[in-house]
Amino acid sequence: MDSKKLVVDALLKVLPDEITEEQVQKLIEKPKTSDLGDYAFPTFILAKSLHKAPNMIAEDLVGKIDQAGFEKVVNTGAYINFFLDKSSFSNDVLHAVINDKANYGNQDEGKGRNVPIDMSSPNIAKPMSMGHLRSTVIGNSVAKIEKKLNYQPIKINHLGDWGTQFGKLIVGYKMWGSEADVEADPINNLLKYYVRFHKEAEDKPELDDEARAWFKKMEDGDEEALKLWAWFKDLSLKEFNRIYARLGVTFDHYTGESFYNDKMDAIVDTLREKGLLKESRGAEIVDLSDHDLSPALIRKTDGATLYITRDLAAAKYRKDTFDFVKSLYIVGSEQSEHFKKLKLVLKKMGYDWSDDITHIEFGLITTGGKKLSTRKGNVILLEGVLQDAVDLAKKQINEKNPDLKNKDDVAEAVGVGAVVFHDLKNERRDSFDFNLEEVVRFEGETGPYVQYTNARALSILRKAANLDYADADDLSLADPEAWDTIKLLQEFPAVIKRAGRIYEPSVIAKYALKLAKSFNQYYAHSKILNEDAGLNARLALVKSVTTVLQESLNLLGVKAPEEM
Ligand code: ARG
Repeated sequence: MDSKKLVVDALLKVLPDEITEEQVQKLIEKPKTSDLGDYAFPTFILAKSLHKAPNMIAEDLVGKIDQAGFEKVVNTGAYINFFLDKSSFSNDVLHAVINDKANYGNQDEGKGRNVPIDMSSPNIAKPMSMGHLRSTVIGNSVAKIEKKLNYQPIKINHLGDWGTQFGKLIVGYKMWGSEADVEADPINNLLKYYVRFHKEAEDKPELDDEARAWFKKMEDGDEEALKLWAWFKDLSLKEFNRIYARLGVTFDHYTGESFYNDKMDAIVDTLREKGLLKESRGAEIVDLSDHDLSPALIRKTDGATLYITRDLAAAKYRKDTFDFVKSLYIVGSEQSEHFKKLKLVLKKMGYDWSDDITHIEFGLITTGGKKLSTRKGNVILLEGVLQDAVDLAKKQINEKNPDLKNKDDVAEAVGVGAVVFHDLKNERRDSFDFNLEEVVRFEGETGPYVQYTNARALSILRKAANLDYADADDLSLADPEAWDTIKLLQEFPAVIKRAGRIYEPSVIAKYALKLAKSFNQYYAHSKILNEDAGLNARLALVKSVTTVLQESLNLLGVKAPEEM
């Protein structure tokens, strides 16, 4: 059921033949206020060909339009205003949501085809930063949206588990570390060695040489180097998995950078065969000056491979393994040049599927306007943030609903959900400031507000548990107070489509806030449980709102507690 199509069809029947359906689709507007109807059509473009003033044209056309399906069709100046028939519209929308339940809004755009999603991808032996949190939650949500559009998402954690930083870590560990310290508090102590390494290397550049030598040993398969590396990796993964469990995020593959070690030679050979590899002061590069980019460094003078070399191998591997229709990378904006180069080199190699690669970039999270960086040790430890949010949620639950059962579970869902929701409601390219107090509020533009609205709606339904409104034939609701909410429910499939097209979970988060707000207004103005002819439809509306709020939260990776 598509209400805009109704308007388009009504118009096409009365418009001159040279006006196409696409033109009409584009011209139709949604008026800002409800007194101008649900849709409006401006007639200005017809003035020239019809040799008439636009307001005359509008008046003429209104007389000819078939009014079936509309409450009324009128003209205001040069505009034709369409008022949908509230009864039939609401009846259609509510039946659709009640029947489809969580599947409401599902679409078959993807036809089951594979979409690898490179997401989270933290670096081993460092704490997961807020940037990796962003990648994790944006990736998780994008995967759910893709799935709803019937693509088959494949979530890949491209762990940063290879590279010169491990040389630095080994040097640091050997100089200042001990097995006992690392076992006691792995990530914090490994980070300490890393930070100290950088500080001391400022005055002692020979430390950098040592680090390079250790990484070279790793690449050459040295046993001691690899043993330390595997140990660091194992400990780091244990900690990351704890955070993933809290966020409710899972992966299909943990294939990090090291996974591609044995696929590196093939990539370098192909580059050489295709005549793309150039020597530059002992290193091997691909020249990209034709695109005003600095060269892609493929192998260093000592033969060591680089980040982009591993990404080239990974991209090819994903194409060969998954035969993807598109391949997504959820990585911060600061790497946009890297992905430009990656796509360009693949293109030069003759892989036209490089066009199907999209870098889904996002901005930084700041606190008090300051950027966070691991290298200086200036990180917010993610688990600390999550725990603080949960504690704050618990405090509010204790004030509002002290007798609630499973208080700890609900606080966890609300606190973690608040952090995730806040991240996703911002357009991903925007940088935003993180202020815990604001994020966990139960009112305003927050996740807890949406969760709370859903819980409140569920409590109404509990009171009506003995009524079988869901089976009622007539779900028409002409009540003007309900109109905004009903129209929002109808928009949900289009909202998902749009969120998917631009890879933007914020579209869904903003929609959920709007729906929650409109429902709360409705709730404040109507006696939902009043026993009159509209009862079934009103309950169906409440039920539909919970269905769509829950599915919106689900698509964002946020839980929806039944009570809070
Ligand atoms: N580990 C990298 C970092 O933290 C992100 C990796 C992103 N994925 C990729 N295929 N390059 O900066």
